Amino acid sequence: MSEPLASRGTRTVTLSVNGRDQEARNVIPGTPLLWVLRDGMGLPGTKYGCGLGLCGACTVHLDGEPVRSCQVPVEEAEGRRITTIEGLAGADGTLHPLQEAWVAADVPQCGYCQAGQIMSAAALLARTPAPTDANIDAAMAGNLCRCGTYVRIRAAIKSAASRL
Ligand code: FES
Ligand code: FES
Repeated sequence: MSEPLASRGTRTVTLSVNGRDQEARNVIPGTPLLWVLRDGMGLPGTKYGCGLGLCGACTVHLDGEPVRSCQVPVEEAEGRRITTIEGLAGADGTLHPLQEAWVAADVPQCGYCQAGQIMSAAALLARTPAPTDANIDAAMAGNLCRCGTYVRIRAAIKSAASRL
C-alpha cells in the first residue's frame, strides 16, 4: 500500500522563479510545481485545468522549455530557471510582444486558458522567430481553448513574430 501524502513530511523549497529565488514552506514531496507556484508562492496566473497534462492551462517554462506544471514534481524544478506568465513582461513592466499582440487582437474570451497559451507561444517564438502555420499548430496543439479562440491566437502569434 502506498504511503499517504500527508505522512511524508514537508520541507521548505527554494525555486528560481521569474529571475529571483522564491521560497515555499511546508511543501509535501512530490507536490506538482503548479501548486507550489500558486499556493506556496502566490503566483496564480498559472491555471489549473485538467491536472492530467492534457489541456496546457498550467504551462510554464523550465529552462526556457514549455512544461505542464501540473505534471512536474517540485523536486524536478529545483535548480532550474522557471518562468511564469507573471515574469513574461520586462522588469520595467514592458509587455512581451506576444502580450501586446494578444491585447491588440482581443484574443481572450473567458481567459482561463490564455496564460498557458501565451507561455507556449513565447517558447515557440524563442526557438522559431518566424513560425509557419505548421510550426504554430505543432507548438500549440496541446493548449486547449474551450472558447475556441484559436484563430485569434494564431493571428496574434504571427503579429508578434512580425515585430520581433
Ligand atoms: S492543468 Fe496541467 S495540462 Fe491541464
Ligand atoms: S478563452 Fe476561454 S478557455 Fe480559452
